[in-house]
Amino acid sequence: MHSEFGADDPDIAMMLRLQRKLEELERRLNKREAEISQLKRRLNEREEQLQMLQREVETLENQCLTLVEESKRQIKQLQLLLSLTAGINSSLELRSVLSNILSAAEEITGAEASSILLVSDTGELVFEVVTGESGGVLKRVSLRLGEGIAGYVAETGKPIIVDDVTKDKRHKRGVDEVTGFKTRNLLAVPLRLNDKVIGVIEVVNKRGEESFDEADLKDLMLLAELSAIAIDKARKHEALQELFISSIRALAAALDARDPYTHGHSERVTQFTLAIAEELGMDEESKKRLELSALLHDIGKVGVEDAVLKKPGKLTEEEYELMKTHPEKGYHILRLVRQLEPHLPGVRYHHEHFDGSGYPLGLKGDEIPLDARIIAVADVFDALTSNRPYRDAYKPEDAIKMMHSEVGKHFDPKVFDAFMRAYEKGKIKPHGS
Ligand code: C2E
Ligand code: SIN
Ligand code: SIN
Ligand code: FE
Repeated sequence: MHSEFGADDPDIAMMLRLQRKLEELERRLNKREAEISQLKRRLNEREEQLQMLQREVETLENQCLTLVEESKRQIKQLQLLLSLTAGINSSLELRSVLSNILSAAEEITGAEASSILLVSDTGELVFEVVTGESGGVLKRVSLRLGEGIAGYVAETGKPIIVDDVTKDKRHKRGVDEVTGFKTRNLLAVPLRLNDKVIGVIEVVNKRGEESFDEADLKDLMLLAELSAIAIDKARKHEALQELFISSIRALAAALDARDPYTHGHSERVTQFTLAIAEELGMDEESKKRLELSALLHDIGKVGVEDAVLKKPGKLTEEEYELMKTHPEKGYHILRLVRQLEPHLPGVRYHHEHFDGSGYPLGLKGDEIPLDARIIAVADVFDALTSNRPYRDAYKPEDAIKMMHSEVGKHFDPKVFDAFMRAYEKGKIKPHGS
């Protein structure tokens, strides 16, 4: 049999099969290759994704670290601020509030010196408290709004960092010339109260070579916010205190006015008392306490009837005993006002005598509170140099002679000496002089 294609030839048939096999293999190979390159592509994509994720993780990690660092720093600053503002708020006296603010400002910003300027009634910026070498001198300087760096901050309400004041045209060079203090760099922030600029805090010369930075600015702004509230509180307290004192003055004057002979007595006794306290070197707090005590010393006379108080002659024994209840009456009236407690001793014991012969308790020497020993001298000098319904005024020299014989008996010798020094300096101005 004959075959056209020779298909029956076993060799050819083998070849064909091999060829098909090869083709088949090639197809499968191609397919594998395609699969492999696809896998490779996917692998690459995965790798890229992985790298991206890794970068993201790194960024997140960094952010976390920064956040932790930042919050650690913030917590530290907050703690510092809190302890400092506790100090600021521990006093209500404006001057010490301002000093406390400045110590805090220097501590948190690492400054060499600092100052607080407050806007005055006339709209000027006045240096209120200044630390560092320029201290005393700067307190006499004031700036117009817009003048100097502080004036710029007050006018715009914007904080400012100046790295080199010699290059800042706003800097008022005259200030450094007056003080001799060399300002290198400064940070100034406004003191704002209810959207109104009431002043400026300036910190000067960062310790170390670099200048103040944004973190210092943020911290000082926060301190300024708390400070403005503390300043406001202190100002209100002082206004209230003044109102309180003037109410007491009015009350004492009204009491003196009941008796034409004692007109102005409380006010003069107060002046003499303060002059003696000054000679004795007493501190501001004691002088403030003495001022009100002296104004109030005879307040108990409101409880003594007119017939006795205004009697135009010597008192009977009985009337005098009634009169002698006035320190105790005053004490019981004032005792009801908690704020007046520090003034009670001066009122209650101003008629005690140094030798124990006075009233109401007959206290002796140091048992008598010093405030009362001082008021006693001031009181008698004014009584003797004023007209009374039962006698005319003594001349100051005669009054002093009379009092001299009472030293160690009625009066504490130390207090009387202080009174005499004040008198000789012209600080005691008797009634009618
Ligand atoms: P006052 O008139 O303000 O006198 C205060 C104190 O100054 C007196 O306290 C007394 O220590 C002294 N003093 C005043 N005037 C004289 C004086 O002429 N001679 C001397 N040696 N000391 C004088 P005192 O004695 O405890 O009296 C308390 C208050 O009693 C007096 O305050 C006054 O309001 C009243 N008073 C005392 N004596 C008389 C009196 O004879 N007649 C009248 N109407 N009131 C008298
Ligand atoms: C200014 O604010 O320009 C003067 C105050 C200072 O130098 O501290
Ligand atoms: C006295 O203590 O000497 C009496 C007061 C007076 O005479 O006014
Ligand atoms: Fe009295």
